[in-house]
Amino acid sequence: MVKICGIGAGYVGGPTMAVIALKCPSIEVAVVDISESRISAWNSKKLPFYEPGLEEVVNQCRGKNLLFSTDVEKHVYEADIIFVSVNTPTKIKGIGAGKAADLTYWESAARMIADVSNSDKIVVEKSTVPVRTAEAIGKILSQNSKSKGIKYEILSNPEFLSEGTAIQDLLNPDRVLIGGNQDPQGLDAIQKLKDIYAYWVPQDRIITTNLWSAELSKLADNAFLAQRISSINAMSALCEATGAEVSQVSLALGKNTKIGPKFLNASVGFGGSCFQKDILNLVYICESNGLTEVGNYWKEVIKVNEYQKSRFVHRVVSSMFNTVSGKKIAILGFAFKKDTSDTRKSPAIDVCKGLLGDNACLSIYDPRVTENEIEKELCTDGVEWEHPMVSVVGDAYEATRDAHGLCILTEWDEFKTIDYQRVYQNMEKPAFVFDGRNILDVHKLREIGFIVYSIGKPLDPWLMNINVIN
Ligand code: NAD
Ligand code: UDX
Repeated sequence: MVKICGIGAGYVGGPTMAVIALKCPSIEVAVVDISESRISAWNSKKLPFYEPGLEEVVNQCRGKNLLFSTDVEKHVYEADIIFVSVNTPTKIKGIGAGKAADLTYWESAARMIADVSNSDKIVVEKSTVPVRTAEAIGKILSQNSKSKGIKYEILSNPEFLSEGTAIQDLLNPDRVLIGGNQDPQGLDAIQKLKDIYAYWVPQDRIITTNLWSAELSKLADNAFLAQRISSINAMSALCEATGAEVSQVSLALGKNTKIGPKFLNASVGFGGSCFQKDILNLVYICESNGLTEVGNYWKEVIKVNEYQKSRFVHRVVSSMFNTVSGKKIAILGFAFKKDTSDTRKSPAIDVCKGLLGDNACLSIYDPRVTENEIEKELCTDGVEWEHPMVSVVGDAYEATRDAHGLCILTEWDEFKTIDYQRVYQNMEKPAFVFDGRNILDVHKLREIGFIVYSIGKPLDPWLMNINVIN
């Protein structure tokens, strides 16, 4: 029986390993992590984060061919194939701070593998890493090996799942990418990994390349996706200035088969743990290779994203007579997108901090994010968690009661079906709606009496004469 060990039981490692266990009943899968609280959550009824369909997959395999453990060494020692899905955040100190990927967790996992192994291993990079990381990992493994003659073959197998649709993405991927050395041992390792995916992924969707192409393709993939969002968000500002409507522009662009319809939704800005981090990483790699202009090109994608978030805060403040001081504002949605409890780099964080900076009182509701998480995200950079300046409440009606304005910051489906007539009655007047996700019916809301701002849409006559100074 082939034994797999997945190091890192996070948003990628957990679902990815669970789906392999589901689809390959003859393979034993151990998912290990240094975090005891994460592993105990994986072994409990309440998994460490919300992801549609994940619970069902875990319940089907856990205790059969899927286990979660903190005994990292034991399971690495026993495994034939080791998937490494540890975090690779942006460095916060030292050379490359604020841009380069911090590979501390990866290096410590590699050193541990070298320490405990006494048989040949295939080591699979699942984490997103800078191009040529496999070279460095290879050196760490071969030079620290405790037993003689052990061969390590490194593969790059980047993960393309999106949170909120992770299980569907894993069960039915557009493609699986496997990069490896192009010598006989490398090709043999590629084949072994291909054989695992072949249990459920059609052969023509499994792409094999050299190591560096696979590593770079992952960074390029995220950069291209984020670039589409910044492009349409840049257009949204121009729409507001000219009377064009961004959803109509998106529709027109998306019907061009050379462009395609996906990732053209204007928003308050993109969030999530990947886009910003991976573009910064790409910028750092460009700069390290003397390609300043190329780095500058990708940097603009992040700059437009920052602009979009601050533009939104300015709209809120300037619409409400240039002051939100002491005014209650309801924040509907805190996760970085719908169908996830993940708040990492959520645009809601910057918007909330911006409004708190102008002394607004925030009443926050998100169907899946806990008060603890919200507090953790907001209490940085000197921001204080001060009741009643900030409160987290149990539903949208409570959040909006006596509020002067409401901001939609995550596109949760339930926000589309709220009784806005009831919300309006219980709000202060004039009552403002700021739709940062373009999910509400602007005409209906205006009929009720709201003053509405929706990204990239023609401005409410009330807002026309108000200058937004950025
Ligand atoms: P995460 O922080 O949720 O999970 C990483 C886990 O690794 C943590 O639980 C941590 O405790 C564990 N860990 C760190 N060092 C370890 C060690 N030495 N031994 C054992 N466990 C260790 O991160 P994530 O969101 O799952 O992302 C993991 C990687 O996958 C990153 O490189 C990320 O860029 C990439 N990725 C993420 C997504 C996504 O949507 N989140 C998608 C594709 C790729
Ligand atoms: C992303 C990539 O899509 C995925 O391929 C990669 O593996 C990991 O990073 P994820 O961050 O989970 O996935 O979510 P994604 O659906 O890409 O959304 C990222 C952010 O962009 C969210 O804040 C989302 O709301 C925003 N977004 C997305 C838009 O603002 N407009 C869009 O059209 C699409």
